Amino acid sequence: MTRASSPTVGATVHPIVTPIVALDVADRSAAQAVVTRLGASCGFYKVGLELFAAEGPDIVSWLRDAGKSVFVDLKLHDIPNTVRGAARSVARHGASLLTVHASGGAEMIRAAVEGAQEGATSAAGATASGGCGILGVTILTSMDGAGIGEAWGRDQVDVTREVVRLAGLVATGGGAGIVCSGHEAAAVHASFGTALGLLIPGIRLPGGDAHDQRRVMTPRAAADAGARWLILGRAVTGAPDPVVAMEQVAASLAGAV
Ligand code: C5P
Repeated sequence: MTRASSPTVGATVHPIVTPIVALDVADRSAAQAVVTRLGASCGFYKVGLELFAAEGPDIVSWLRDAGKSVFVDLKLHDIPNTVRGAARSVARHGASLLTVHASGGAEMIRAAVEGAQEGATSAAGATASGGCGILGVTILTSMDGAGIGEAWGRDQVDVTREVVRLAGLVATGGGAGIVCSGHEAAAVHASFGTALGLLIPGIRLPGGDAHDQRRVMTPRAAADAGARWLILGRAVTGAPDPVVAMEQVAASLAGAV
């Protein structure tokens, strides 16, 4: 974990910002290459749908056995009883964070929280220190106001207002935090403070390539907006030297860029 220094401008910085590297790869051997390359410079990994679908929950146990914390990004959305069972299973394998869609509602989020607690206190899940926190995905960054309006049968939607509204459902359901873009983070942080941890993707090193992300932020800017966790993808895994890139993430958090 990296401790961010006090900001000189902007919103209050959460005292601890944890970088998480996304294992956006097809299988375990590709994941192993990333984990081996990064070594001690990364202690927290994200397993998304592609890798989870290929390898199943054993990939979580494998990362735990390697001494890493694991964020399982499955974006669950189903009836509460089904989500409770899925969260229990994921937590049993030692995940530290799991996503559900906030639009599933407070009851579904509550079920996920309860299932994760049950799984984390089971024999195998107990190896995960601090249990398994449930994060609510608010609005996918691939959608804009018009797209949400079309999907949900509404007129044009104000994305920031919708993200804050959905964050309220996560808080009501007892979730640990939300996933949102850095550009909505300050509004959520202003409404909920540190009651909801903010996990922010789309992170780029100062001067780095944005790739296909439209709205990117440096680690420091995300921290200033209230981030608790940062998702690092190609900024680290696509860097000529990923270990140096992790050092640059820490430098950005500690500095002013
Ligand atoms: O930094 P890069 O664009 O390579 O990282 C992409 C990672 O962030 C992927 O794992 C992707 O799933 C995740 N992500 C995202 N935007 C979101 C939510 C997650 O890019 N809104």
